[in-house]
Amino acid sequence: MIKITRTISHEELKTQQRFSDAVADIFSRREENPLAYVHSFGCQQNVSDGEKIKGMLAQMGYGFTDDVDKADLVLFNTCAVRENAEDRVFGNVGALKHKKRRNPNMIIAVCGCMVQQEHITQRLYQSFPFVDIIFGTHVLHTLPSIIYQKLSSGKRQVLIPEENGSIAEGVPVQRDSKFKAWVPIMYGCNNFCTFCIVPHVRGRERSRLPRDIIKEVSDLVKEGYKDITLLGQNVNSYGKELGISFAELLKTLDEIEGEYKLGFMTSHPKDCTRELIDVIANGKHISRHLHLPVQSGSDRVLKAMNRRYTVEKYMDIINYAKEKIDEVALTSDIIVGFPGETYEEFLQTIELIKKVEYDSLFTFIYSPRKGTKAADMPDPITREEKGKWFEELLQVQSEASAHSYDKFVGRTLRVLCDGVGKSRDNLLTGRTIHNIIVEFEGDKSLVGSFVDVKITSALNWAMVGEMV
Ligand code: SAH
Ligand code: SF4
Ligand code: F3S
Repeated sequence: MIKITRTISHEELKTQQRFSDAVADIFSRREENPLAYVHSFGCQQNVSDGEKIKGMLAQMGYGFTDDVDKADLVLFNTCAVRENAEDRVFGNVGALKHKKRRNPNMIIAVCGCMVQQEHITQRLYQSFPFVDIIFGTHVLHTLPSIIYQKLSSGKRQVLIPEENGSIAEGVPVQRDSKFKAWVPIMYGCNNFCTFCIVPHVRGRERSRLPRDIIKEVSDLVKEGYKDITLLGQNVNSYGKELGISFAELLKTLDEIEGEYKLGFMTSHPKDCTRELIDVIANGKHISRHLHLPVQSGSDRVLKAMNRRYTVEKYMDIINYAKEKIDEVALTSDIIVGFPGETYEEFLQTIELIKKVEYDSLFTFIYSPRKGTKAADMPDPITREEKGKWFEELLQVQSEASAHSYDKFVGRTLRVLCDGVGKSRDNLLTGRTIHNIIVEFEGDKSLVGSFVDVKITSALNWAMVGEMV
C-alpha cells in the first residue's frame, strides 16, 4: 500500500528545535565546544543529507574536525548500494573501537541507507557494542532529540522506523562549499530495479513542492552559489503526485536571473522525455550534460533488471539529445555481470557504448543485495570471469573517450573554476557547461567564479587551456 507523502509538521520541527536548544544549553556549560567528525559515503543524496546533519549539529553547538582523534562525536552516514560500500563502513567503524577505549566519552553514530536494513542493524548492534547511536534515513530530522536522549540518559539509541517516506522542510543545512550546492527535489524511488537496494532503504518516491525548491534555488543564486545540482534517484519522475513535470520545474528554475550553472541527477531513461531535452537545449543555465544510466546493452538483461526500456528506446533519446543539445556530454552507469548475463549479452553492452560515445562511464561489477529480486536469481558466472569482462569494458571506454574533446581545441569556453590543481599551486581546475574538466593557470582567488578559457589541448579525461 502506498502511503501519501507526509510532510513533517511545523510542530514536530519546533519540538526538534527545542531539543537542539537543550543540547546547546548542555554544551554552553562546558569549557570548550565539542567537535564532530562527519563522513558521508555513497551518492550525492547522502552528501546532501550529511550537510543537513552538519547543519543540525552546528545549531546544537558542535564545531567540526577532520581528525577522528579530536572528535567528541563521530558520525558515519552510510551507503548500501554495493557490498564494498558496506565493507568499508564496517572497517571504519571497527577501527573506532580502540579510539573509544582511549576516549570513553566519544559518541559514535551510524546512520543512512545501510542501517535501514535489519540484518545490518542487528550486526552493528551486537558486534559493535561501542556504537552509541544508530538511526535510519526516515528520522534524519530528529537528530537533535536523538543526541539529547543520548547525552541525558547515556543509553544506546536505535531508531529505524519503517516508513514510506516523509519530507522535512526547514532543516538547517551547512554546505561544504561556498559556491556548489546540492538541492534535493525528491526523495526515494518507486522503480525497484531488481539489482537495487535504494527503494528498500529510502522509501517511496516523494517530491518537494515547487515553491520550496524555487525559493531555495533563488536564495542560493542570491547568496552567490554558482553550481547548483538538483538531486533525486529519478528526477524525471519528479512531481507526478503534484501535477508538474520535471521539465516544467527545470524551465522555471532556469528563468531565475544570475550567473550560475544548473545541473541535475539522476535521469531514468524510461521517463526521460523529449520535452525535457528541449528544455535543456533551450536553457540559459542548464548544464549540457545528460547522465542517463543504461546499465546494459541487452534487451533481455534490461528486462530482467526491470528497467522498463529497450536499447532502441534508449538510443532514441540519446539521438534526440545529440541532435538538439549543442555538444551534449553523455555519461552513464553500467553493471557488468548481472545474474544470468552471458558474454554475448555483455558484448551488446560494449557495442552500445561504442555507438553512444560517452564522455565518461561509471562501471560496476554486480553486487548481490539482500532482499532484492536479483539476489535470488541464478548467477553462474564467477567473480573472476566478471572481472575480466570489466577490464575489457574499461579498455573499450578509454579508447572511445580518447578523442572526444578534440573538437573544443582552439575555442574559448566559459568555465566555472572549482578548485586548485594537485600538481602546482597556480594550476586551477574548472568545469564547462558540459561538465567537462578544464585545467588552466591562474590565481586561486578565482575559485568559485566563472572565467573564459581558450582550450589548447585535449586529454583523455579533461582539457587544458589558457585564461583569456
Ligand atoms: N537512481 C540511479 C542510480 C542509483 S545507484 C538510477 O536509476 O540510475 C547508482 C548506480 O549504482 C546504478 O546506476 C547502478 O549502475 C549501480 N548499482 C546499483 N545497485 C547495484 C548493485 N547491486 N551492484 C552493482 N551496481 C549497482
Ligand atoms: Fe535503484 Fe532503479 Fe531506483 Fe535507480 S531507479 S535508485 S537503480 S531502483
Ligand atoms: Fe548509497 Fe543510499 Fe545513495 S544506498 S547510493 S547512499 S541512496
